[in-house]
Amino acid sequence: MNLLSLFDLEISDLDEILQNAIALKATPLDWNRPPKYAGSVMGLLFEKSSLRTRVSFEAAIAHFGGSAIFLGQEAGWGKRETIADFGRVLSQYLDVLVFRGKDHTQLVELAGHCSCPVINGLTDIYHPCQALADILTIRENTTDLDRPIRVAYVGDCNNVSRSLAICCAMMGIELRIGCPEGYQFSPDFAAGLSSKIPNATLPEITSDPKAAVENADAVYTDVWTSMGQEKEEKQRRNDFASFQVNAELMSLASPNASFLHCLPAKRGVEVTDEVLDGPQSAVVQQAGNRMHAQKAVLDFLLTKATVA
Ligand code: CP
Ligand code: NVA
Repeated sequence: MNLLSLFDLEISDLDEILQNAIALKATPLDWNRPPKYAGSVMGLLFEKSSLRTRVSFEAAIAHFGGSAIFLGQEAGWGKRETIADFGRVLSQYLDVLVFRGKDHTQLVELAGHCSCPVINGLTDIYHPCQALADILTIRENTTDLDRPIRVAYVGDCNNVSRSLAICCAMMGIELRIGCPEGYQFSPDFAAGLSSKIPNATLPEITSDPKAAVENADAVYTDVWTSMGQEKEEKQRRNDFASFQVNAELMSLASPNASFLHCLPAKRGVEVTDEVLDGPQSAVVQQAGNRMHAQKAVLDFLLTKATVA
């Protein structure tokens, strides 16, 4: 089994992973007991830069007694051999592979040729591991659990918000997205949510950022220009100018609302320093939760691979 997008999981799988992430976070490391995945080897094949994803995965496998091999440019991905040859060979050495790539279709092709589980560590379309940490953080910071949690995402309908939307649809979390016309989810993606997820809680999309954040329990943003879109940066800064998360916008959310950002942030662009460094900001906790969520993903996939 792979985690290429959150559509690969049943709602019960997602529940299990989140519950396990909470338990793993609460359990101190105990080296007096044999580690659960001693000797397991994780490969990390990364075409794009990363701090959080790479290091949190490397730490996660180390905590389980395994080790990681980072494969950067020198591995020759996309240059020396076909995706099929790459996947068939590489996966023989590994127990699990994390891929960060420019093109989601290449991830799907790669996974089709791998004999070990493959995890999406970010593509142009999805960032599933980020969404797991996001939901963990939102749950940790929401006190009123007698009603559905309300999340506002203000910004680009990109890999991060697409995965957030799938996770919210599966978990019954209300998601309001404030995004300029022309940058919103494709009709195909919206249709996929309802067809692939039973009783999906569908996101509400508006081009008014103020309407999106009203009474939200969490306000989330990401960069307006993702990796690979650098040529569009000038146009995007113009088109998203009224979508900055600043103190004025935050004041429309619930008074206890937390602020989230997957990081890295472009300070002073999609979010002000005042909000990012302010008392409502949960971004450091959110980044820390990447490791706990990914430990639970590894545990889930490695257990399934052993049983299979
Ligand atoms: N949020 C995130 O994926 O960070 P990195 O790009 O540093 O891995
Ligand atoms: N949307 C951003 C997320 C980075 C973690 C990007 O793809 O560059």
